Amino acid sequence: MHNGSVGPEVHAVYPGSFDPPTNGHLDVIARAAAIFPKVTVAVVVNPQKRDPFFAIDEREEMLRACVSGFANVRVEHFRGLLANFVRAEHAQVIIKGLRVVSDFESEMSFAHMNRSLSGVDTMFLMSDSSYSFVSSSLIKEVFLQGGDISAFVPPTVLDFMQAKRSSGGTHVDLSRHR
Ligand code: PNS
Repeated sequence: MHNGSVGPEVHAVYPGSFDPPTNGHLDVIARAAAIFPKVTVAVVVNPQKRDPFFAIDEREEMLRACVSGFANVRVEHFRGLLANFVRAEHAQVIIKGLRVVSDFESEMSFAHMNRSLSGVDTMFLMSDSSYSFVSSSLIKEVFLQGGDISAFVPPTVLDFMQAKRSSGGTHVDLSRHR
């Protein structure tokens, strides 16, 4: 039988679009990093999402800057099924953040499906209540309409968003924002 206890070898994967990463995501990452010895933040490459604000390498770059203080957190990307990625990574746990009760409805089926496909369980962390209304899509909408999003994203992400806007939406020159 698989020993699922949180031991020195337990590897947790925190998947998402992270377009862009928010303070809510960072809160979940920090809390997962305090529980699990190894956490992989996994950015999905989703060709179905037509108009991403940031390219995959930009999201990875932002996330790497945000998690640089955590020795046990790494950032990767994956294509296709999360179940295949967690199996390939030999991860034991998938982490998801829940902001509001309605998040749970879809997450419950995803958790069942991912467990059926991979044998890997999903564990949920309740997002800090101060971030319960913060989502990447809302952040983008407020930002693009000129609203102040500085309370909701890490400073690096704000820099990237401003650079993206001033470059007219083209790929951000990453070397200028390290
Ligand atoms: O940040 P998001 O957009 O809510 O993250 C969604 C994500 C990446 C967790 C989800 O879309 C996903 O797992 N995509 C990979 C494809 C997959 O495995 N689909 C079946 C889910 S049961």
